[in-house]
Amino acid sequence: MQSKAHWEQVYATKAETGVSWFQPHARRSVHLIGQTGAGRDARIIDVGGGASTLVDDLLEAGHADVTVLDLSETALAAARARLGERARRVTWLTGDITQVTLPARAYDVWHDRAVFHFLTAREEREAYVRAVLHAVRPGGHVIVATFAEDGPDKCSGLPVVRYSAHGLHAEFGAPFTLLQQEREAHRTPSGTVQQFIYCLCRKAPN
Ligand SMILES: C[S@@+](CC[C@H](N)C(=O)[O-])C[C@H]1O[C@@H](n2cnc3c(N)ncnc32)[C@H](O)[C@@H]1O
Repeated sequence: MQSKAHWEQVYATKAETGVSWFQPHARRSVHLIGQTGAGRDARIIDVGGGASTLVDDLLEAGHADVTVLDLSETALAAARARLGERARRVTWLTGDITQVTLPARAYDVWHDRAVFHFLTAREEREAYVRAVLHAVRPGGHVIVATFAEDGPDKCSGLPVVRYSAHGLHAEFGAPFTLLQQEREAHRTPSGTVQQFIYCLCRKAPN
């Protein structure tokens, strides 16, 4: 895992619309969050959300309890500036997901696009899964998107682990049921295509 400094520098030197992971709308994430049956009062956390437009889409859809967590304050500041007044409706958390202590059983939906794949050390992945187990309510849903097996081996210049749906699910283990998997060919602002895999899992109800 690279330092916070890497991400602060990325967001300080690149426009939010110029980073390779930029999407004008997070359509697949919104679709999968919809698949969970989450209502407007569902507690949703976007982990490593950065300056993602997912929060805009969720607010637009009427979701009233959205948290965005990221290592980079600069990324969160960019998202807040874009949202203007609407940013007040969001809970913003700065921290490293492998170290932060989130409230217990607090979230109905955990969403992560392109963060888990940076965890190249087993201990980091274990810490991440512990955070999910702690913070997602029993019966809650977890959506994680990473580069697929045929995706790039680097993201933002950092090495990543690429996954199949079953390999990704295996990282989370028995308390989680794999409900759905979807592939996505993401076109970066420079026109490159990156293959993603999205997994929707449900945490056991007890
Ligand atoms: C490739 S970007 C994806 C951003 C966003 N999820 C999206 O899809 O647009 C990865 C993001 O994860 C954040 N990040 C990286 N490692 C993290 C960690 N250990 N804890 C929290 N955020 C992290 C970075 O600051 C960055 O915003």
